[in-house]
Amino acid sequence: MLPPSRSIPQPYRVSQQTTTNTMGREEKRIVIGLDFGTTYSGVAYCDDAAAKEGTSGVKLVMGWPGPITQNATNEKVPSRIAYNPPPNATILWGNQIKHNTKAAVHACMKLRLDEKMKGSEQFRMLLAFLTSRMTGLDVDVDELPALGTELDGPPEYPGKDPVDMVADYLTEVRKATWTEIGNAYGDEMFAQMRKELVVTVPAVWSERAKDLTLKAVQRANFGAAKTMLVTEPEAAAIYTLKCMREGINKDDIKVGDVFVLCDAGGGTVDLISYRITQVQPTFRIEEAAVGTGDKCGATYVDKEFLAWLERWIGPDAYKKIPAAKARHGSQMMTTFETAKFTFSGDGEDMDIRLPSECGIDTDESLNIDDRTLSFTKDQMRTVFDPCVNRTLELVDGQVAAVMKAGLGKPKMVFVVGGFGRNRYLYRRIQEYCTERGIQTRQPAWPWSAVARGAVCRGLEGAGAGLIAVRLARKFYGTAASEPFRPGVHSEEDMYVNEITGRKMARGQMTWLCDKGDRLPDDTPRTMNIELSRQFEPGDEREVMGVLVGCTDDVPCRRFADDAAQVICRVRADFSDMPLSSFPKSRSFATGKEYYELDFKLEATFKSDVIHWRLLYQGIEYGSTTVTYDE
Ligand SMILES: Nc1ncnc2c1ncn2[C@@H]1O[C@H](COP(=O)(O)OP(=O)(O)OP(=O)(O)O)[C@@H](O)[C@H]1O
Ligand SMILES: [Mg+2]
Repeated sequence: MLPPSRSIPQPYRVSQQTTTNTMGREEKRIVIGLDFGTTYSGVAYCDDAAAKEGTSGVKLVMGWPGPITQNATNEKVPSRIAYNPPPNATILWGNQIKHNTKAAVHACMKLRLDEKMKGSEQFRMLLAFLTSRMTGLDVDVDELPALGTELDGPPEYPGKDPVDMVADYLTEVRKATWTEIGNAYGDEMFAQMRKELVVTVPAVWSERAKDLTLKAVQRANFGAAKTMLVTEPEAAAIYTLKCMREGINKDDIKVGDVFVLCDAGGGTVDLISYRITQVQPTFRIEEAAVGTGDKCGATYVDKEFLAWLERWIGPDAYKKIPAAKARHGSQMMTTFETAKFTFSGDGEDMDIRLPSECGIDTDESLNIDDRTLSFTKDQMRTVFDPCVNRTLELVDGQVAAVMKAGLGKPKMVFVVGGFGRNRYLYRRIQEYCTERGIQTRQPAWPWSAVARGAVCRGLEGAGAGLIAVRLARKFYGTAASEPFRPGVHSEEDMYVNEITGRKMARGQMTWLCDKGDRLPDDTPRTMNIELSRQFEPGDEREVMGVLVGCTDDVPCRRFADDAAQVICRVRADFSDMPLSSFPKSRSFATGKEYYELDFKLEATFKSDVIHWRLLYQGIEYGSTTVTYDE
């Protein structure tokens, strides 16, 4: 975040008001749902005619090139890409990448779109584990920080930034998708269909990360007549609910019921809660608690295993294992993954073959015989539990938030996502729920629920959505100067306005929308703030308004506070307007003559999209642009 004194003009707050209005409608088409995941991506589609069959009309793309990996079905395709060096400079991606692929493998591209994740140590570790040099090239574990440092500096691959790489990856996903859908409908017919794309993003995605995702999607040339974003848990919730509504237990859902949705994926576990507000003639639901999530997905179970192994065989032996043989896709980790996938909390010991480099052939005290480690179910539990326990905490947090909102106890917890398929995780969630009289459910296709739900959401069309009300995930507002009041404002923010000579406090927050505020889908909520800026005849007349977010429960009052995060800026240049169009004043304190520029900043909230405009005399001023913050 940029310091306020440099980056923010110091407009002066006049008043604040709220108004509302509506929009939106649709026609015949094929809807394509794209779930670009941290570890796996999925694509589903449905045309208007097939939509009449309900969720079974939603088809999944499964013709991904390359062999299916040992542990996965083709329901999703690995989110990874590798560039062969020139002269042939071909791209390998998804299942085409094997443990002996020579080119450096780029994984975790999704997280690279999110600034906050990019710099984190946790991300560096995850990236180092998932990515690159899975060949015989010895990259020592000690090199991890070095790999991470690269992330903060130049792009990982010459000439490619994260958006380029995601765009290249999504281009391959699109090509495979086009081939499969083209085969299903006939190329000619498919070419004529109106394509609508629904792209899913994490609920916690920043506006900038959403913007970068869209940029990458655009570069992948889906040629969609319309592209919309929907959050992953919301898509999964829509799919799960639709499945239930079509099933034999459809009467289980009644008006007033609340359910929690838990999407446990590779990178994150995301949660959200909904309350059913209408069953007939159509379903309508409302968010019942602000969504939460954490980085405790299945990939962290793999990381836990490596940490456990280091403790078990000792750091000296562990250090001898080349990083390439402890990375995702290596033989050892693939065996571990197989055990992980089928782990239910009980069962037999699992055999994991250790790389010869660790130097332990047979050691009874370590349960290692002929380089094969007998890994017990208790040990597996130790490895699972940090992620499982954190997931349970998150579920508990949602249950508590729903109860705190006065909506009673949730009726059900829905579990989806790749990690959500795991029997042990599911069982632990079930135990938690049973103790509290809550039911646990999983839809027919938990792994591809997000992609399928994205299609369901797209078929609903704009404005007619299942979800009638969302809750604001953070406070949204703007920063402006106010007349300085000792004892109220911090001395640090104090400055003297050179034109008026008045003592002012810079960067004071006005929150236009509170965290948890209800945002109805059919009536976009518009909030604005009137501001004023003084200038002298020779001054620049560019005005800027910054949209700021804060996820804390109690919002900060100062822009300088770390909790205040810049979402985007909107600028307008008034240099071309004649001075005579602005009201003139004179300051008694400084004797200076100055002009007053009154403008309005307006935020409109709809379906998780915020429009931020700068208005002058009631109209959007010509050169106004919205830019996402770097
Ligand atoms: N049965 C299983 N048991 C444990 N883990 C599993 C199982 N099946 C899949 N996984 C793990 O789930 C992850 C993939 O899940 P999913 O596709 O939902 O995640 P993602 O969409 O890539 O991640 P995110 O949603 O965090 O971006 C992988 O890490 C995989 O190892
Ligand atoms: Mg996912």
